[in-house]
Amino acid sequence: MSVTVVYGSESGTTEKIARRIAGPLAARLVSVGRASPADFEGCDLLVLGAPTYGLGDLSSDWEIGIDRLRAANLDGKRVALFGTGDQMTYPDSFVDAMGTLYDEVTARGARVVGETGTDGYDFIASRAVRDGRFVGLALDEDNQAGKTEARIVDWLGGLK
Ligand SMILES: Cc1cc2nc3c(=O)[nH]c(=O)nc-3n(C[C@H](O)[C@H](O)[C@H](O)COP(=O)(O)O)c2cc1C
Repeated sequence: MSVTVVYGSESGTTEKIARRIAGPLAARLVSVGRASPADFEGCDLLVLGAPTYGLGDLSSDWEIGIDRLRAANLDGKRVALFGTGDQMTYPDSFVDAMGTLYDEVTARGARVVGETGTDGYDFIASRAVRDGRFVGLALDEDNQAGKTEARIVDWLGGLK
């Protein structure tokens, strides 16, 4: 199974996480700033990672890269999502960008896999929560870095 991980990152945290996720999956790793529609299309499993900025916004690289994602044919594509955020400082928009990516890919016919539970997090609202669960893997390196490794391992186990 071919896997591509496309990530955005402004200060390096999501890039570091993307590397940790890509390794065990033997995935191609592509920064969204360099991704073409073919990068989104040419894999069996597409993994997208994003931090959240502003109050629930995409990072600047995803703001630009989203147009290339929109230009890709994602019909029937299996997509897994991960998001980084800060639930303590931004409890009303925790990992919102992951929810934005969820809406973008599902609107284009993708099938999202790898949802996770919200136990162990402390936030008020998130666009990335649907029917009481995160649409992907939510990570908080600002407040819960100690939980990240186990969360990644669990999530990867579920994907495989
Ligand atoms: C100006 C600013 C705004 C942010 N807004 C949010 C937010 O709305 N929701 C959230 O969960 N995290 C927010 N964060 C936290 C970042 O998403 C988090 O630190 C992330 O790990 C950064 O990833 P990066 O290093 O890959 O850019 C914000 C951070 C900054 C500096």
